[in-house]
Parts: sequence; structure tokens; C-alpha cells
Amino acid sequence: MRFKDKVVLVLGGNSGIGLAAAQAFAAEGAKVHLTGRNQQTIDEAVASVPGAVGYSSDIAEPKATEEVVKAVEEAHGSIDVLFINAGVGGFAPLEGITEEDWDFVHGVNLKGCVFALQKAVRIMGEGGSIVVTGSIGAHGPIEGNGTYAAAKAGLAMAMKVFARELLPRKIRLNMVSPGPIDTPLLYRNPGMTDEQVAGLKEMMINNIPMHRMGESDEVARAVLFLASEEASFITGTDLLVDGGLIELS
Ligand SMILES: NC(=O)c1ccc[n+]([C@@H]2O[C@H](COP(=O)([O-])OP(=O)(O)OC[C@H]3O[C@@H](n4cnc5c(N)ncnc54)[C@H](OP(=O)(O)O)[C@@H]3O)[C@@H](O)[C@H]2O)c1
Repeated sequence: MRFKDKVVLVLGGNSGIGLAAAQAFAAEGAKVHLTGRNQQTIDEAVASVPGAVGYSSDIAEPKATEEVVKAVEEAHGSIDVLFINAGVGGFAPLEGITEEDWDFVHGVNLKGCVFALQKAVRIMGEGGSIVVTGSIGAHGPIEGNGTYAAAKAGLAMAMKVFARELLPRKIRLNMVSPGPIDTPLLYRNPGMTDEQVAGLKEMMINNIPMHRMGESDEVARAVLFLASEEASFITGTDLLVDGGLIELS
């Protein structure tokens, strides 16, 4: 019960890694608030996370996140743990990248996450903890991953800066960078056929030293560790949860 009565906001908590983390936080006593865009999966997530409150909110719109933060403030006054997890994929080789796809992926994965931090940290106090989902994609080149990798790499360095800036407020900020995890994300790459997704999956499994994809729960456990007091001397780090993955290409 590391999170008994703690207020936890999970941005992107209705699917995959975010949902697994929301369920794990609640199982350890947290009061969970979660967001997403798909009302049906938000409702299903709320039903599966005891006591949770759900919001339909697009992280690419900082004002929308601000409204969620205000709602949490009205309910509890402050946030103890913030998990910024929302993210979208976007696979395309250089010649296939469109400005629309670039802006969409960066609007969610970089700009949206940075402004979500700015809005939410306003109501966080001493001892607060933030975890942000990065990606193995920010740690090595994978052909076709330029748009996503650039957003996550930018996010990683921005978060290292903000971790420093938050030190005087005694708020810790860390990242988890998952390797290939079996979630709906892979199937949501605009422009990728099922065959291409299957090929990508096979390539990744072949390259992972553990020869399997990870599960959302395995990432969630790392998130809870970094969010908890067990990680009291850890800030500004980026924890790889990747099955020993060294290089993907
Ligand atoms: N799966 C992997 O292999 C992998 C590897 C490295 C990093 N990651 C990162 O892990 C994080 C979670 O992804 P996942 O694998 O669990 O995939 P997922 O099941 O597709 O979950 C993505 C989550 O982000 C939310 N989201 C996306 N766009 C949003 C927006 N504009 N506003 C608010 N919420 C939004 C989704 O909500 P809706 O469903 O309502 O859109 C969902 O809750 C992402 O940041 C992803 O980049 C995943």
C-alpha cells in the first residue's frame, strides 16, 4: 500500500501501460484520476480501477489538461503523483513523413506532455513525484521511426531539465522508457498495414535479448517504483524497461 490515499493523475490511463499503472496504483490504495480520448475505453477503465474518476481530454490541447487539473484540485486540493503517459505512434520513412503527421505526433508526445507537466505541477507539493513515459525509440535509431523518435528524444531531454528545475520544490521527476510492449499502440500507426505491423513485431522480438515483447504490467511496476518513496534519491533518470534491448535496426 505504497500509495494509500495518495492522489494520482494518469494522463493516458485508459489503455495499455497507462491502464495497467492506474490499476496498480489503485491496488496500492491510490485515488486515481485518469484521462484518454476514447469515451468507451475511459468508461471501461474507470469500471476496472476501484474509485477512479475518468476524463475525456486531449493532451495536445493544454487548456484541456488545465481543466482536468482544476477538477482534481476541486476534488482533492493537490496531486501527489503525476504519470504523463499519453502517446501516439507514427511510423514513416523520411520520404513519407507529412507535416500533418509530424505535427500530430509532436503535438501529443512532446508539446502536449510538456504543457501537461506545466499545468499539473502547479498543484503538486513537496514530496510529489512525476513519471513520464519515454521510449526506447529515443535511445537508438530504427528506420521509419524518425518522427516518433524525435518527439520522445526531445521529451527526454526536456524532462531532464525540468527535473533539475523542480529540485527546489522537492518534487522528483523520472522517465520510464519501454522497449516493445504488447499494447494497442502498435496497431495504431497511421498508414501501416497489418502485414507491416506483423513484420515490425517480428523484427523487434528477434532483436530483444529476452526474445519476447514486454507486458504493460512490467512497465507499470517500474512506474510505481519511481513514483514511490522507494525511489526517494532518484530524479532525472530514464529507466529502460526493454528486455535487455541494446539496438533495434
Ligand atoms: N507499446 C510500446 O511498445 C511502447 C514502447 C515505447 C513507448 N511506449 C509509450 O508508452 C505510452 C503508452 O502507450 P501504450 O503502448 O500503452 O499504447 P496505447 O495502449 O495506445 O495507450 C496510449 C494511451 O495514450 C492515450 N492518448 C493518446 N493520445 C492522446 C491524446 N491526444 N490525449 C490524451 N490521451 C491520449 C490513449 O488514450 P486513447 O486510447 O483514448 O487515445 C491511451 O490511453 C506512450 O507514450 C507510448 O509512446 C510504448
